[in-house]
Amino acid sequence: QCHLKGLWKNELGSNMTILATNTAVTFSGSYHTAVAATSKQTLVSPLQGVQQHPSAKRHPTFGFTMQWHFSDSTTAFAGQCFVDHCGKEMLETTWLLREEILSHKDTWNTTRVSTSIFTHIK
Ligand code: BTN
Repeated sequence: QCHLKGLWKNELGSNMTILATNTAVTFSGSYHTAVAATSKQTLVSPLQGVQQHPSAKRHPTFGFTMQWHFSDSTTAFAGQCFVDHCGKEMLETTWLLREEILSHKDTWNTTRVSTSIFTHIK
């Protein structure tokens, strides 16, 4: 079974800590991004998530949203936790970032989406 709890790093060099919660369904954590959409200085920011049926599933799907402490954008991640044949855990995710804009005329330029893989570092 794959566990979300722990310290993770993605291909950009961003670090994420996921803490376990009482219910084992919802979780919280913190995220230190290595990159940003603006030139503002980044700050470690909190995340809130849920995972599906953690006791029943070996490779649970999950989602979490970011509340950036240095940016007005919102990012949502959805993914799945996998373990390879050596027992190494990884998170395959897709994320979507919505930037705050001042006019809805700029809607075409608000959303970025991509994939990201996190590997377990502790
Ligand atoms: C912002 O610049 O508005 C907030 C920071 C966004 C960082 C993004 S989230 C998806 C991607 N993966 C990362 O680790 N960082 C970037």
